[in-house]
Amino acid sequence: MEQDQRLVFAVNGERFELSSVDPSTTLLQFLRSHTRFKSVKLGCGEGGCGACNVLLSKFDSKLKQVEDYTVSSCLTLLCSVNGCSITTTEGLGNINDGFHSIHQRLAGFHASQCGFCTPGMCISLFSALVNSEKMHRPEPGLGFSKLTASEAEKSISGNLCRCTGYRPIADACKSFAADVDMEDLGLNSFWKKDAKVHNLPFYDSKQITTYPEFLKNEYKSTTVLNHQNKSWYSPVSIEELRSLVELSSAENGVMVKFVAGNTGIGYYKETDQFDKYIDLRFIPELSTFKKAGSHVEIGATVSISKLILALKEERIDDDLCSECDIVFKKIASHLEKIASDSIRNVASIGGNLVMAQRKNFPSDIATVLLAVKSKVTILTGVKREILTLEEFLEKPALDSRSVLLSVFIPCLKPTKNGYSEKPNTKIIFQTYRSSPRPLGNALPYLNAAFLAEIYLCDSSVEINSIRLAFGSFGVKHAISASTVENYLVGKTLSVDLIYEAVKLIRVAVCPENGTSHPAYRSSLAVSFLFDFLWPLIEADGCINTSTCIPHGVGSRMTCDHSEPTLLSSAKQVIESSHEHYPVGEPIVKSGAAIQASGEAVFVDDIPSPLNCLHGAFIYSTKPLARVKGIKLKSEKDVNSVVTFQDIPKGGDNIGAKTLFGAEPLFADELTQCAGQRIAFAVADTQKNADVAADTAMVDYDIEDLEPPILTVEQAVEKSSFFEIPSLVYPSQVGDFSKGMAESDHQIHSAEIQLPSQYYFYMETQTALAVPDEDNCMVVYSSIQVPEYAQSVISRCLNIPEHNVRVITRRVGGGFGGKALKAMPVATACALAAFRLRRPVRTYVNRKTDMIMAGGRHPMKINYTIGFKSNGKITALHLDILINAGMSADVSPMLPWNMSCALKKYNFGALSFDFKVCKTNHSSKSAMRAPGEVQGSFIAEAVIEHVACHLSLDPGFVREVNFHSFDSLQLFYGVGAGEPLEYTLPTIWDKLMKSSNFDHRVEKVNKFNKINIWRKKGISRIPILHEVSLRPTPGKVSILRYGSVVVEVGGIELGQGLWTKVKQMTAYCLSAVQCDGTDGLLEKVRVIQADTLSLVQGGFTSGSTTSEASCEAVRLCCNVLVERLVSLKEKLTEQMGSVNWELLIMHANMQSVNLSASSFFVPEFTSMRYINYGAAVSEVEVNLLTGETKILQTDIIYDCGQSLNPAVDLGQIEGAFVQGIGFFMLEEYLTNSDGLVVVDGTWTYKIPTIDTIPKQLNVQILNSGHHKKRVLSSKASGEPPLLLAASVHCATRAAIKEARNQLCSWKGLDGSDSMFQLDVPATMPVVKTLCGLDNVEFYLRSLLSSS
Ligand SMILES: Cc1cc2nc3c(=O)[nH]c(=O)nc-3n(C[C@H](O)[C@H](O)[C@H](O)COP(=O)(O)OP(=O)(O)OC[C@H]3O[C@@H](n4cnc5c(N)ncnc54)[C@H](O)[C@@H]3O)c2cc1C
Ligand code: FES
Ligand code: FES
Repeated sequence: MEQDQRLVFAVNGERFELSSVDPSTTLLQFLRSHTRFKSVKLGCGEGGCGACNVLLSKFDSKLKQVEDYTVSSCLTLLCSVNGCSITTTEGLGNINDGFHSIHQRLAGFHASQCGFCTPGMCISLFSALVNSEKMHRPEPGLGFSKLTASEAEKSISGNLCRCTGYRPIADACKSFAADVDMEDLGLNSFWKKDAKVHNLPFYDSKQITTYPEFLKNEYKSTTVLNHQNKSWYSPVSIEELRSLVELSSAENGVMVKFVAGNTGIGYYKETDQFDKYIDLRFIPELSTFKKAGSHVEIGATVSISKLILALKEERIDDDLCSECDIVFKKIASHLEKIASDSIRNVASIGGNLVMAQRKNFPSDIATVLLAVKSKVTILTGVKREILTLEEFLEKPALDSRSVLLSVFIPCLKPTKNGYSEKPNTKIIFQTYRSSPRPLGNALPYLNAAFLAEIYLCDSSVEINSIRLAFGSFGVKHAISASTVENYLVGKTLSVDLIYEAVKLIRVAVCPENGTSHPAYRSSLAVSFLFDFLWPLIEADGCINTSTCIPHGVGSRMTCDHSEPTLLSSAKQVIESSHEHYPVGEPIVKSGAAIQASGEAVFVDDIPSPLNCLHGAFIYSTKPLARVKGIKLKSEKDVNSVVTFQDIPKGGDNIGAKTLFGAEPLFADELTQCAGQRIAFAVADTQKNADVAADTAMVDYDIEDLEPPILTVEQAVEKSSFFEIPSLVYPSQVGDFSKGMAESDHQIHSAEIQLPSQYYFYMETQTALAVPDEDNCMVVYSSIQVPEYAQSVISRCLNIPEHNVRVITRRVGGGFGGKALKAMPVATACALAAFRLRRPVRTYVNRKTDMIMAGGRHPMKINYTIGFKSNGKITALHLDILINAGMSADVSPMLPWNMSCALKKYNFGALSFDFKVCKTNHSSKSAMRAPGEVQGSFIAEAVIEHVACHLSLDPGFVREVNFHSFDSLQLFYGVGAGEPLEYTLPTIWDKLMKSSNFDHRVEKVNKFNKINIWRKKGISRIPILHEVSLRPTPGKVSILRYGSVVVEVGGIELGQGLWTKVKQMTAYCLSAVQCDGTDGLLEKVRVIQADTLSLVQGGFTSGSTTSEASCEAVRLCCNVLVERLVSLKEKLTEQMGSVNWELLIMHANMQSVNLSASSFFVPEFTSMRYINYGAAVSEVEVNLLTGETKILQTDIIYDCGQSLNPAVDLGQIEGAFVQGIGFFMLEEYLTNSDGLVVVDGTWTYKIPTIDTIPKQLNVQILNSGHHKKRVLSSKASGEPPLLLAASVHCATRAAIKEARNQLCSWKGLDGSDSMFQLDVPATMPVVKTLCGLDNVEFYLRSLLSSS
C-alpha cells in the first residue's frame, strides 16, 4: 500500500495537514495549542471526566460508511487520527452562525453553571444522537431523535459535572428522546405549561455533517511520520509488523511502543520517551471478530465497544450453541460497565490484557475471559504461541517486542470442549462487579465471573464442573479459585455445601498486603458465590430446579444483575414573583449558550502571549524536612526553577493571606507539610514543565528535627493551636451543668470523626501573568478573591498594589477552593514572570491540584448529652478538635460556622470547646458550607444517638427538640429575625405531606420485612444555616447608545451571580419609567472583575455575594435613575413620550454623568439571617455488597423571594449532590506523612449521574416579604449541601434493619443498638456494618434451624 508521510485530518470541517508531529502529542494538546478550538477542556488527563470528549468520525471506503464515536482527546494520540474528522462542540454551532439545538437546550434547561463540563456533555449527547440515527428504528416525530430516554441519559454517564447535580443535564438530553414524556422534563425556559416539542429549539438530525467530503478522497490508511528521530508507523500486515519489530530490535536502545487505543496512559501516566510508535489497528488479523468452528476469535485491537456489539448480535445461523449466546450477552453486559463510552470506543481487548499481564492492571476483561476458559495467541519474532489465559497471566511480563494477536473463547456447549454429554445438564453463567459507581467510570473492588455445568434431577442439583474467576482485588492478576472449584465438583448442592464453599472462598480471595479494604473484598467474594449458587436451592434447603434454567438468578436475590436504571421523573416547584420584574424570573443563566458551544473563555483558553512560558509546582512529599536541594531529571526543556530565593529584595515569601495570617508561597528552610510548594519549574510548554516537576528529585534532611504533628491528638499534646479571636468565638447557650442535672439519661464522651473533602472543581487552578511596562503585572486568574491576590502579589514582588492588575472573568467551579488556594498559583506565575520578564502561565494538573488543595477540615468531635426520657435534650457539650493544617487560612472561623448550623435544635444548654489545631498537613480551607456541614451533621448524630438510646424514632426526637421562636432567638440572637421569618415548622409539615412521608415509612417497613438482602431506610431532616452579608462594591455605566455595563465585587463562579445582577440592573433602571425599559435585560453586560477598575471586591463566598452584588448595583442604579428622571420628565413634556435610547442620547448631550459607583455596606442588625430547608431521602442498601441506592429525595428550601428561581434551583440541586459526595462517596485520603494519595479520577469518586437520587423533587418556597433582605431574597449556594445528611441518616436506618436481622441470625436477643456510620458511608463502610460475614451467619442460622 502507498506510504503517506503526512497526517491529514479535519477539525470541524477544517482541513489540517501536518508533516512532522511528535508522536507523543495528544489530540487535546494539539487542539488547545494549535487551533482556535478551545472547547476541549482538560479536566483530568486520565479519561475519567469527559471534559475533553470529541466526536471522531472515520470513513470506511469499502462500505462507504462513516463511523462516529466519542473519544477522550486527552488520551488520543494525534497521529492516530489520520484520515479522521474531529467534531468539537464549536463545530455544532456558535454565536454568529446560530447555536445547535443541543447548545440551546442545555442552556434552556439550566444545565450549565460554571460551564467547564458543558462542551464535553454536548459532545457525548451529540455522539449518541448521531449514532441513534443509524439504528433501524422507526422514524421519530419531528424534532425528536431515535434515541430512547434511557439511552439519552446514559450518554453522559461518563461525564463529570461538579456544579449542577446532573438532573437538568439529563432533562436536556432526554428532550431529544423519541419516547420521552415531555411532561416529565424539568424546569426550562421553553415553556411554562405547554410541554410540546414545537416549543423546543428544533433538532435537525441532518444539520451537521461529521465527515467532510474532501477527506474521503485523500484518506490513506498507512502513515510513517517522522519527527526528530521519533517515528509513527501504521503497519497493515503481520509481516510488516514483524519486520518493523525486528528492525527496532537490531537498533540498540530503541524504545518501541505498540499503540492500540492508547487509553492505558490514563492509568499509567507515561513519562517514558519512545522512539517508535507502532499503531496496531490497521492489521486486519488483529482487528476482526470471527467465528472459527466452535469458538470465536477476537482480534487484539478490537475495541471494547465493538466486542460488545459483536457479542450481543443474534446468532441465528451460527454453529455456536444457545448457551454461548447467553454467556456472550452476559459478558457484553459486564463490559458495558467498564469505563465510559469514550474509553470503550477505542480501548482494545489486547491492550487491556497486556496491561493486566504486564502491569497487573485490575482488569474486568481478564476475569470474564478467564471464567470462559479463553486462550490467547502471542507473536514473538516469528514464533506464534497459543496459551491459556491463565498461562498468559502467570507468565513473566510480556517483553516489549511480543505482540498479543488474538483471544479465543471456546464453545460452551455440553458435549463440546470437554463439557459433559449427560442429559439434563445445564450451563449457568454469571458475572459480578462491585464498584463505587454502577456505570460511571469506576474500577471494581472485586469482579468475578462464574461458569458451571450442573446436572439436574428431580430433587437435587449436582455440580459437574465449575469455574470461579475473581479479579481486581489486589492481587497480581485474575485468578480462578481452584480449591473451591475442586471442592464443589461432583457434589450435590445443599445449604451445608454452600456454607463450606463460602468459607473456602474467603480464604481463596485474599488481597495482598497493602490493598485497601481487604476484608470487604473477601466478603464480596462470599456474596458473589452465594448469589450464584443460592438461587438453585430454596431458603429451606430444598432444591429449586426451576430457577436454574437456563441460569440461576433467583427471585429473592441479591446482587443486582439488572441494567442500572437511571433517573425517574423529577419535580421542581417554583413560584416566581413578578413584583420586581425581571428580578424573580427564572431566566437562563448569562453565557450558558456560549459555555455549551465552547466559546466561553476560561483563563487557560486565553491565547498565550508571545514567548509565554509554563510553570508546574514541585511540592514536598515530607511533612517536616529541610530541603537540601532539587535535582531535575533533565535540564533540557526547563527554563528556570523558581524558589523563595527568587523573591525580589524587599518582597515577602507570601502566597496567600487572610485576616488570620499569611501562608508562604514556597517552603523556605523547612517544609511544613507534604504537598507544600517548594518550587515552580518553568518550561516552554506545560507538558515539559509538568514532566520536569514530576520527575524532580528533592533532597530532604530530617536530622535533629522534631517529629511532625500529624494528628489532632499530637497537636493537643504539643499545644499547637491557632488562636480563635474572641470576636469570632461562638457564644455558648445556657448552663450546661444545670442542663445535665435536669436530664433523665446521659451519654458521655461519644466520638465522631469527620474527614476532608476535595473541591473537584472541573477547571483546576490556573493563572496567566503578563509583565507590563513600568514594573506592572497583569494576572489573569481563576480566583474567588482577586483583590487579595492583588495585595499578595504586590507584597511578594515588592511593588505597589496599583502595579498589579488581577483580572477574573469566569471560574470553572470554585466551591471555596479558588479563594485562598488560587492566590499562590497566581503569585507563583507573577513571580516567575517578574523574574524572567516573560509571560508565565500554569494550568495545574489534577494530581498536583489534589495534593496541594487542602480541602475541607477534618475533625474529631467528642460529645456529652443529657436528655429526658421523651427525647428532649437538656444539655450538650462538645469538644471539637479541628485539623487546620499548617497555616491559619480561614480556619479560626470554623467554630463560628459550625455553631451556626449546629444550633438548629434546642439543645437546652449548649457548651463547647473548640481547638483549631496547627498540624503538618496542607492548610485546610473553606469548602462550600465550611463548618456548617459538619455542625449540622453533628446535630443529627446527636439526635440519632439519643433516639437509639431511648429506642425512639429519630424523627420524633427531632421534633421534640425543634426550636420555638423564643429558643431560636436565644440561640441565634438577632440572626433569628422576625417570628414570621421562622419558616422551618411550615416547611417541615409541608414536606411531610408533599413527600407522602408516613405512607412511605409504612412501605419501607413492609419492604424490610419481606426482603432479606435489601433493606430500605427513610429519613427527614431540617437545616438551619446562618449566613451574613459582606460589604460589596458595584459600578453601573450606561453607554452612548443605551447599553449598560456593570461591574461588581462578586465573581461569576457558575452560581449565576451575573444573571441575578443583570436582572437587578434591568429592574432598577426601569424605575426611570420610559419606553423601552422592558428590553433592558438584553442591554446589560456584566464584565470581568478587574482589581484596578473596581476596588474592595473582597471574597466571593458564603452564599451572599450574589445578593450583596445585586444590592450594590441597586444603589448605583438608584443614583442613575435619580439623575435621569428629571430629564425624562422634561423630554416627555416636550415630545409626549421618550424611549430609553433617546433619553440616554439626550443625557449624553447634556453631560449627565452616566456612571455610578457604590459600596454596599450591610446594616449590622440585619446582615445575618438564617436559611431554612428540609429534605426527605429514601435509600436502599444491598446487604451483600454494601451498595446504597438513593431512591428518592424531596427537598423544600426557603429562598425568600428568589431573585432567579432557575438559578437557585441549580444551586440547591448542585449543592445537595456535592453533599452526597461528602456523605457517601468521596474519600480524600493521605498516607502516614499526610501526602494525599487519592490524587485523580481513578480513586476520587464524585457523584455521577448513576449515583444521584433516582427521583429528586425540589420545591423552592416563596416565603414572601422579608423587609431586611435584598428584594426579600435569601441565599441558596451553600445551605442545601447540608440537606444531604438526610441520605446518610436514611442509610443508617437501613443498616439498623440489617443489623437487627443479623442479630437474629446470630441468635442474639434484641437489636444491635448503637453504631457509628462513618462519613463517607462508602460501600465497604456500609457492608462492614451490615456484617462482612452476614452470609455465613445466614447459612449457619439455616443449618442450625434445620
Ligand atoms: C478511565 C478509564 C477507566 C477504565 N476502567 C476499566 C475498568 O473498569 N475495567 C477494565 O477492565 N478496564 C478499564 N479500563 C482500562 C481499559 O480497558 C484499558 O485502558 C484498555 O483496554 C487498554 O486498551 P488500549 O487499546 O487503549 O491499550 P493501549 O493503551 O494502546 O495499550 C496498553 C499497553 O498495552 C500495549 N499493547 C496494546 N496492544 C497490544 C498488543 N496487541 N500486543 C502487545 N502489546 C500491546 C501497549 O504498548 C501499552 O503498553 C479503563 C481505562 C480508562 C482510561
Ligand atoms: S480530561 Fe480527558 S477525560 Fe478528563
Ligand atoms: S457546570 Fe458542570 S462542572 Fe460546572
